[in-house]
Amino acid sequence: MADAPWWAAAVFYQIYPRSWADSNGDGIGDLQGVISRLDYLAWLGVDGIWLNPIHPSPNDDWGYDVSDYLGVHPELGTMADVDELLRATARLNIKVLLDLVPNHSSNRHPWFVDAYSSRDSRHRDWYVWADARPGGGAPNNWMSVFAGEPAWEWHEPTQQYYLHNFLASQPDLNWWNEEVRDAFKDILAFWFDKGVAGFRIDVAHALVKDQELRDNPEATDKDPEQVRRIGQQQVYNMNRPEVHDVLRSWRRVCDAYPAPKLLVGETYVYEYEQLASFYGTGVDELNLAFNFPFIFAEFTAEALRDSVERTLAALPQHATPVWTGSNHDTSRLATRWCGGDDRKIRCALMMMLTLPGACFLYYGDEIGMTDVEVAFDDLQDPVGKRRWPEGAGRDPVRTPMQWTPAPGAGFTSAEVRPWLPVGDHRGRNVADQSGDPHSILSFCRALIQFRKSSPDLLYGGYTALPGPSGTWGWRRGASTTVIVNLGDETAETFGIEGTINLATVADRTGEEVTGAAVVGPWDGVVIEAATATSPPP
Ligand code: NOJ
Ligand code: CA
Repeated sequence: MADAPWWAAAVFYQIYPRSWADSNGDGIGDLQGVISRLDYLAWLGVDGIWLNPIHPSPNDDWGYDVSDYLGVHPELGTMADVDELLRATARLNIKVLLDLVPNHSSNRHPWFVDAYSSRDSRHRDWYVWADARPGGGAPNNWMSVFAGEPAWEWHEPTQQYYLHNFLASQPDLNWWNEEVRDAFKDILAFWFDKGVAGFRIDVAHALVKDQELRDNPEATDKDPEQVRRIGQQQVYNMNRPEVHDVLRSWRRVCDAYPAPKLLVGETYVYEYEQLASFYGTGVDELNLAFNFPFIFAEFTAEALRDSVERTLAALPQHATPVWTGSNHDTSRLATRWCGGDDRKIRCALMMMLTLPGACFLYYGDEIGMTDVEVAFDDLQDPVGKRRWPEGAGRDPVRTPMQWTPAPGAGFTSAEVRPWLPVGDHRGRNVADQSGDPHSILSFCRALIQFRKSSPDLLYGGYTALPGPSGTWGWRRGASTTVIVNLGDETAETFGIEGTINLATVADRTGEEVTGAAVVGPWDGVVIEAATATSPPP
């Protein structure tokens, strides 16, 4: 597949910049910190990084409330640092994706400050304003995603409500306004022209709102937990069909570059058909779309297999699926899927890195980093502060990267208190694991290196294999077989010939398989046939 785009089989690494590496000892990760650790990423073998928002922001929602889309947050660095990062990553052939937040800005963005100043202001219509319902009250029943509040905020001086699908300090932009569309095309072009390879698009499904502002229907028992928590199906305040026009127009911008730019959507939807819709025809909307049904699948062979096969069946031709198990909003895979069990973490990494398509690792996945307990007084996330004590929000998955066993975890200097507490850095850290050939990190790196050397794993199709319950086997291309046993019993899968090239249990590498692959509980193997064999009937 010499003509496949670079991202079609890429391994991406998500960096939460505040938490990855602190270069100046203020307890906050920054861009110079990222630059200082690029050799690690090159050693690991990643093709691209996605940085969570780096722009100026009051940080009410930690960068997802942008006050200047063309600037750099002073706590993270300067534009010169961005330029240096782009030069340094280019030398290592690592692509950089930034995070675009087009659904809403900060209420301190000059556009909103102006919109707020009067009904006749130049930017008034850049946001979603509406009159009170006859007799008073919010224009409709829309609820914000965060913590059970109405999504409307009353503005006394101008006698209207404005919409905020998230915090009240994150007013929603009005995507029916052509000037808003033009402004974001300019923002894309600004960063693309600098050398950024693409964007992850925040709540890509949400931008366009129902023009009639119709009430959302109530949630039902059949809805996923997230929908039930909000109490309503978000069919009018987001998920409108017109969003596809916006995505198509951005794809045209991206494809006009000699090396086409990449769009990865945070497409937070629960149905595979809906997920597939964000790829358009397969070549005219998003290049990649995060697969939340997969992220939220149970960690069983049956559930994951079902999720993967339904994804592959739903996606249009030429669309690249995305596999990921952790991100800055969701419990880490090492905890949520694997309960901290190393054997399960290896199986999860093996699965994600051997399925067809792109894989996104979240920083720390490669060392099996787990969620960290954060005390109420240490909470930074507005969602955690609101949900406490029912939940701690998202801080447990945003804690400092664990580089070393030393105080400060090699993230920051020993003397300073990092912005979020450090987790189990003595138990799991890069320094110890990189020196241990049997560590999760060494295994993860071996998987990435093997994948790069295997045309089957990069570009081969997926063929399901029959096997005992609790195991899941699949063939990639003509001669590579992957089997993971996500159960407590040893299991045999028949009809397999070849050599074990990679196994979650290190000493199995090189073992010959003749007729039946025996896989122990919570083990996985990658087997290569000497010559191409046809899949079993
Ligand atoms: C999704 C982002 O991933 C999350 O962190 C943020 O709070 C919301 N969108 C609002 O921007
Ligand atoms: Ca710093």
